[in-house]
Amino acid sequence: MATSAKLGHNVTGVQMSPKDTKSLLEAVNEIHPDVPGDSKGMMLERTNRAEEAERIGSVPVPGSAKGMLKSTFDMALGKSPELLVDKLGERLAFERSGVRLYDAMIAKAKALETAESDLVQVLQHIRDEEFEHMNMVADAIETLGADPTAQTPCADIVGVKSMGVMQVLTDPRTNISQGINALLTLELEDNAAWELLIELADAGGHPHIAKGFHKAKEQEDDHLIKIKTLLRRDLISQIK
Ligand SMILES: [Fe+2]
Ligand SMILES: [Fe+2]
Repeated sequence: MATSAKLGHNVTGVQMSPKDTKSLLEAVNEIHPDVPGDSKGMMLERTNRAEEAERIGSVPVPGSAKGMLKSTFDMALGKSPELLVDKLGERLAFERSGVRLYDAMIAKAKALETAESDLVQVLQHIRDEEFEHMNMVADAIETLGADPTAQTPCADIVGVKSMGVMQVLTDPRTNISQGINALLTLELEDNAAWELLIELADAGGHPHIAKGFHKAKEQEDDHLIKIKTLLRRDLISQIK
């Protein structure tokens, strides 16, 4: 298993060259940016843009006549179904990319794990449950009469958010603990998101959907424990 840290020729820190550090600090005081503005201006500009901007997409109206009827029926029963559909769309996108992220980690683990390690087995188990969750969410979306293939606004955002995690996992140079650490980011969110989704389904008047999601939440609790344990085990075993 590749070790997490190794001493080497790293010259990024200022301690590598005290003489250059001095001239660098002098330059900071002497040379000013040649473009106008500062961080306050940037904040003001961001605030202005946020006030003017359009939304990130929309939740589509149900495409099928069957869906339309079901949606009307559920709207009568539930509250703000578009909010729940948006968050279900987010969960679907997240679980789907979760499967792909675990696949990337499994490929890495196959290359780097030691013979006695159960790492690939544990990762495969979690990966299969993420796939299960994806299908569970798709079913719930259909129950509401919505289209599980549609990209909702929150689904779009969650895809953007996981880009960094994907980059870490598919970088062939990252080692086991660096990859697991990226998965920890994923699982911390996964856990909190299922907890919230259950509350939202309940609050929206869909207790049957909320009830079905408890199984996923329990499995997510287990994912979090497993990933934290793998990370701890990998790093502590390297302290000799
Ligand atoms: Fe998940
Ligand atoms: Fe998970």
